[in-house]
Amino acid sequence: MEERYLELIKLINEADYNYHTLDKPTITDQEYDSLLRELYNIEEAHPELVRSDSPSHRAGGQVLDEFKKITHAIPMLSLSNVFNEEEIRLFDERIRKEGIDPKYVAELKIDGLSVSLNYKNGKLFSAATRGDGVVGEDITNNVKTIKTVPLTINKPIDIEVRGEIYISKKRLEEINADRRKKGLEEYQNCRNLAAGSIRQLDSSVAASRKLDCWIYHLPNPQDYGIKTHFEALMFMKELGFKVNPNNKIVNNIEELLDYIKDKQEKRDNLPYDIDGIVIKLNNLSEQKIMGFTAKYPKWATAYKFPAKEVYTKLEDIIFTVGRTGQITPNAVLSPVLVQGSTVRRATLHNEDYVKEKDLKIGDIVSIRKAGDVIPEVVEAITERRDGTEKEFHMIDKCPICGTKLVKKEGQVDYFCTNEKCDKRNIESLIHFVDRHAMNISGLGERIIEDFYNMGFIKNITDIYQLKKHAEDLVELEGFGNKSVNNLLGAIEESKNNSLEKLIFALGIEQVGEKTAKVLARRFETMDNFMNTSVDILTNIQDIGEIIATSIVDYFSKEENQKLISDLKELGLNMNYLGEKIEEKEEFANKTFVITGTLTNYTRDEMKSIIENFGGHTSESVSKKTDVVIVGDNPGSKYDKAQKLGITIWDDDYVNQIMEEYK
Ligand code: IVH
Repeated sequence: MEERYLELIKLINEADYNYHTLDKPTITDQEYDSLLRELYNIEEAHPELVRSDSPSHRAGGQVLDEFKKITHAIPMLSLSNVFNEEEIRLFDERIRKEGIDPKYVAELKIDGLSVSLNYKNGKLFSAATRGDGVVGEDITNNVKTIKTVPLTINKPIDIEVRGEIYISKKRLEEINADRRKKGLEEYQNCRNLAAGSIRQLDSSVAASRKLDCWIYHLPNPQDYGIKTHFEALMFMKELGFKVNPNNKIVNNIEELLDYIKDKQEKRDNLPYDIDGIVIKLNNLSEQKIMGFTAKYPKWATAYKFPAKEVYTKLEDIIFTVGRTGQITPNAVLSPVLVQGSTVRRATLHNEDYVKEKDLKIGDIVSIRKAGDVIPEVVEAITERRDGTEKEFHMIDKCPICGTKLVKKEGQVDYFCTNEKCDKRNIESLIHFVDRHAMNISGLGERIIEDFYNMGFIKNITDIYQLKKHAEDLVELEGFGNKSVNNLLGAIEESKNNSLEKLIFALGIEQVGEKTAKVLARRFETMDNFMNTSVDILTNIQDIGEIIATSIVDYFSKEENQKLISDLKELGLNMNYLGEKIEEKEEFANKTFVITGTLTNYTRDEMKSIIENFGGHTSESVSKKTDVVIVGDNPGSKYDKAQKLGITIWDDDYVNQIMEEYK
């Protein structure tokens, strides 16, 4: 009996491999079903025989309460990115600088989620997600349902391999068609579906999704006497893993560029999504010379395909009024899906922008996401015009209050100068309560607008007198005792904010969040700040004439002085409560630029550390930059810093300094 059971496991696993991994079925569906039935019957009658590599686990069934954590034996790193030919050549140059004449392996960058598979004595032992790179989640049950992940490999060895779990475009369509029928929300793309499926606590749900997996990385090649990455790929293929047939050795950058062009063109014909090409140094001893940063190998990088453009109709151009009175034209678009989210609006910035792009209302336009986030109108497809399109005309009156718009000399933007313009007031209030300003949760944009129109909040001081209207508010639709109490609590709480939040919230022209922080820290109290002068202000690093004049102008107005004294009376804190500057030699009076992601600090945390230690931060690298802090996936700032010979601190160095300063 046991012998037959073991034979069945072998036969079914082989059939799965031939069918799913090699795409070459060797037995008929009926034969397969009958083997499976025989296996199930034995397992039911003899549960003591059930083995961990039995294909019966492929159906799922175990339901977990939560995923256990798995610490990766070797951290799972991510890849740096390059976006164009120039950056690919720079990557190549960095390798050549180490005296290497590189050959690369070019691979498809599969758009899924990475997985680590651990085999003990040839049997699948555990599978983990990447997590934060150090600790991932145990997804063994779900991974066992993936037919192309061998439960037993062809050698009884201990080995870890890594790859990408993904789902085919066809499965996405099928699953979405089913969800549409059931009135459920559809998955936006293959990656989201794969990620959602692998995190199912019920493994039979994961099984029903029919995930797949490409293997592309062997973390310990030296243990198997392997000398090149391509050999590692072949070795993993021989063990029974599904290794992508498009992987190719390229002998130089020209061959690499040809490969990229070819794959980019054929991308839409592939049955699965890819978002770029991965480039890996082939020779493993050369990989060793290049080494790693904290987050990615220096011997590999990912070329990301340019963001996809999609077409839609420019239905209208409407104008919005900002807090400062600035008028912005906005594209109203026929809703369209761009890289996973529906786009309906896009800013058109100003009159010149619309004219330069020669946009007409009714045009078919191409849309993309700038930096993969903000939707942007790229151009009008003029060949698709049929004569019904309407010219764009800039307005000359405020769309809200009708005041004649003004354009300052040398500027591109038009302004509504009416300080009583309702829209300007509403936008100023929205700014005042914003998370980065006074951070009053519960006063969202819609609520501010409603309260303004109902007369509850007409100006900033009204916010702090809202409790007078508590009884009316409780009666409003969508409100109740609890939410009114929460809101009033949040308003009270905001009175304790440190001075920089209030300075930023006031909306003084030219005073952004960062400047507000510098000012609060320097002046410490609102009184000191209000009574300053242009001279004193321009002596502060980062404060120029324009900002200084704007501040002095603001406080010269009687209504603004009254606002501050009213707020004082209402009990708002007027002092700086943040950390005082504590100059440290490595930081004091130096200008820093941060690029990429750091392991231990968010960008904001790093910025405030720099400021606390007496340094300054800037967004762009120039000759004035003293230090560039480089984390994972740095942008072009890193290259620029290298070109300019600016001191670079990597993640390890930052951690080392912080350790010393603790
Ligand atoms: S190699 C140390 N190869 O892309 C090497 N990654 O943006 C680690 N990916 O985290 C990865 N296809 O999830 C590699 N052929 C491929 C890949 C690939 C997709 C993913 C992987 C990685 C991410 C980085």
